[in-house]
Amino acid sequence: MSPVASSNGAPNRPEENSILVTGAAGFIGANFVLAWLAHDLSAVVSLDKLTYAGNLENLASVANDPRHAFVHGDIGDAELVAGLLKRYRPMAVVNFAAESHVDRSIHGPADFIATNVVGTYRLLETTRAFYDSLNSPEKAAFRFLHVSTDEVFGSLGRDEPAFTELNRYQPNSPYSATKAASDHLIRAWCHTFGLPVLVTNCSNNYGPYQFPEKLIPLMIHHALSGLPLPVYGDGQQRRDWLYVADHCSAIRAVLERGRIGETYNIGGASEKANIEIVHRLCDILDADRPRQDGRSYHQQIEFIGDRPGHDRRYAMDAAKIASELGWTPSETFETGIRKTVRWYLDNPGWVGRVMSGAYRDWLQKNYSNR
Ligand code: NAD
Ligand code: DAU
Repeated sequence: MSPVASSNGAPNRPEENSILVTGAAGFIGANFVLAWLAHDLSAVVSLDKLTYAGNLENLASVANDPRHAFVHGDIGDAELVAGLLKRYRPMAVVNFAAESHVDRSIHGPADFIATNVVGTYRLLETTRAFYDSLNSPEKAAFRFLHVSTDEVFGSLGRDEPAFTELNRYQPNSPYSATKAASDHLIRAWCHTFGLPVLVTNCSNNYGPYQFPEKLIPLMIHHALSGLPLPVYGDGQQRRDWLYVADHCSAIRAVLERGRIGETYNIGGASEKANIEIVHRLCDILDADRPRQDGRSYHQQIEFIGDRPGHDRRYAMDAAKIASELGWTPSETFETGIRKTVRWYLDNPGWVGRVMSGAYRDWLQKNYSNR
């Protein structure tokens, strides 16, 4: 465990209105921290355990920024987190830290219980002790925002309306069950202990810095590497896709204006079948980075055995956050996917460096024998 350390070696000092961001070296956490600092909102203390999914390189552009400090550690380490809260006195904790990959939760749920359930519980308890020590104006300003997922609502039938905040929780995978458990803990810590919480439930994100185990970056990487594009089952599972910068702007809106104790659904109104996504990626790559043999990337598509318990359809009704907080996404799927492909084409080094031996072991575990 690293001691509290500024990423640029500058002295650490409490900053007015700083925020503590957990899971900050992951895909969405890093995008959130970079956007927060780009908007010059306040200082950020980033906490991350640096699991296989955490990558300090994602925060490299703010490594020398005096408004940013990175701390290597676990949300479940009460002593470390209590020390951070005492030292920096943040006005908010934004909790992205989680094990986030459904397929990995099927192969090994233990880490998901440890971080998503027990880790969240410990973070809540540590934050509650800090909150109780604040004076009245500080208490009034403080927020704990928990970042959750649409997967807690289970799977929709073909013609069912999109999930609203009132849908019943029906998680189907070990991942979504642990996220649902964490959402319930958050609610209870607000209701019973008065912790001022906010919960966001978001649909599938895509964009820069996404680890290439998830559909879109995996397909781009496999296409460019001449590997099969592995589509689970019939490829007709539907997801609602949101460009990551829009998820980050939604979280900022909830943090700033959301009502304490409320949950907010976030989505991109861009529902698509997986196979449509893969075809669109092939079309863009055919145009922007044609294969050297003149053939199309479409011929790399392979249908393989389905994910166990695979949810058929998710769709989010984001009317509440639109009407209460005025948030709507800025990107369409078309503009977002073009930016995303361009980022991966322009950053082959980033992808190359996350291809550790452990990543290759994962590909072998998940994709052989299907
Ligand atoms: P990610 O896997 O890319 O990043 C998770 C980060 O959390 C990693 O940097 C990892 O090192 C860190 N982490 C894991 N365990 C930790 C622990 N015990 N203590 C501290 N840090 C720890 O995930 P992501 O896609 O960026 O997702 C972030 C959050 O958003 C998650 O809570 C996820 O459930 C939620 N979410 C993701 C999506 C999506 O499409 N990716 C959609 C909705 C909600
Ligand atoms: O819905 C929000 C969720 O989106 C987040 O809570 C999760 O953290 C995030 O990982 C994501 O979960 P999904 O399971 O939807 O994402 P994934 O990218 O793993 O898969 C998207 C769809 O693509 C899903 O139906 C499975 C399918 N798929 C995925 C992979 C990796 C394939 O067909 N082939 C693949 O190789």
